[in-house]
Amino acid sequence: MEKPDQPKVVLGVGGGIAAYKACELLRRFTESGHAVRVVPTASALHFVGEATWSGLSGNPVSTEVWDAVHEVPHVRIGQGADLVVVAPATADLLAKAAHGLADDLLTNTLLTARCPVVFAPAMHTEMWEHPATQENVATLRRRGALVIEPAVGRLTGVDTGKGRLPEPAEIFEVCRGVLARGPEAARADLAGRHVVVSAGGTREPLDPVRFLGNRSSGKQGYALARTAVARGARVTLIAANSGLPDPAGADVVRVGTAVELREAVLEAAVDADAVVMAAAVADFRPVQYAQGKIKKKDGQEPAPVDLTRNPDILAEISASRARPGQIIVGFAAETDDVLANGRAKLARKGCDLLVVNEVGERRTFGSEQNEAVVLAADGTETSVPYGPKEALADTVWSLVAPRLA
Ligand code: CTP
Repeated sequence: MEKPDQPKVVLGVGGGIAAYKACELLRRFTESGHAVRVVPTASALHFVGEATWSGLSGNPVSTEVWDAVHEVPHVRIGQGADLVVVAPATADLLAKAAHGLADDLLTNTLLTARCPVVFAPAMHTEMWEHPATQENVATLRRRGALVIEPAVGRLTGVDTGKGRLPEPAEIFEVCRGVLARGPEAARADLAGRHVVVSAGGTREPLDPVRFLGNRSSGKQGYALARTAVARGARVTLIAANSGLPDPAGADVVRVGTAVELREAVLEAAVDADAVVMAAAVADFRPVQYAQGKIKKKDGQEPAPVDLTRNPDILAEISASRARPGQIIVGFAAETDDVLANGRAKLARKGCDLLVVNEVGERRTFGSEQNEAVVLAADGTETSVPYGPKEALADTVWSLVAPRLA
């Protein structure tokens, strides 16, 4: 039974092979305390049957407006929802939603919902790229819906390309981000924006098996990418050596070294509205790279490792902005005199915002939680209390959004 304080989610399921992945999404919602009403289309039931949706959600399932008419389901389900998520959203469903057609329970629900609506499209690349689909997606986005970019990968049959449904766990994270923002999320404040986020830690190779690295997990950068997707942005995530799963909707570019990270950031920043440098970039790299594994020699001390400076990417992109009005955000990890060092670093790097973390043995690196102060070039300061990395990420975007031209 639904409890009054449970967030109410409508899970619309379109008729695509990826419907089976929506079962996993449904479980994630129910296991984390959401009340879920599944509204499949008639064609979705060709892929996953009513018994599965009903059993997993604990609620009745119908595709048509003609069941339990006295409860006026075509209006009530949408009206009562805190979030509607359609996964997978087929080309047909996107077209119907864009044009306001309402010939079954799901399309009626989409017309009556006043809460945030998330579409996770999945289809063959040709269908996704067709101008009809792209125009429908643009229409839905313009009206405030969040349409998550499909992932690139294996499609039905032997085909691969763009059009794959992102992993259910990652769609769930986007939905969680939207729900956390509440009714405000119905306005995607980064819609139409391109943001670039760097994440993880660079590795500077010494030889084919060894590198100089750091302990950055990439979690803060990934949280920034996820929350930007949830706020409607087109996101390029430049990931340095992170093993985390690709965030739904983000375009992920993988890099290894600081020099590779610089190349990728400069390329992606060309048309970016904002760049957030959350990656831990090695300040130095070995001068020499040994083509073969460096061997120890009996009775000999190891040869010293000469280091050279890596480019300072944050300082470089702040000094020569790829676009006028581009907003640049840096991160700083400090152990002492956190605020004074942070202010000095903000001035030195020339960025607009600097997120300053106090780090120590057990703080920040690899943890799920974070605490920070965000310093702005205009002199303001925003404290972010100890909490999930998503909360810090949301604060960063809330400071970036009003600064965008
Ligand atoms: N950064 C960068 N390129 C580098 C080093 C750092 O773009 N070669 C970026 C990081 O992504 C981060 C910010 O700069 O956003 C702060 O990095 P940090 O290493 O703390 O700054 P440093 O100038 O190296 O200061 P210090 O080593 O004195 O603490």
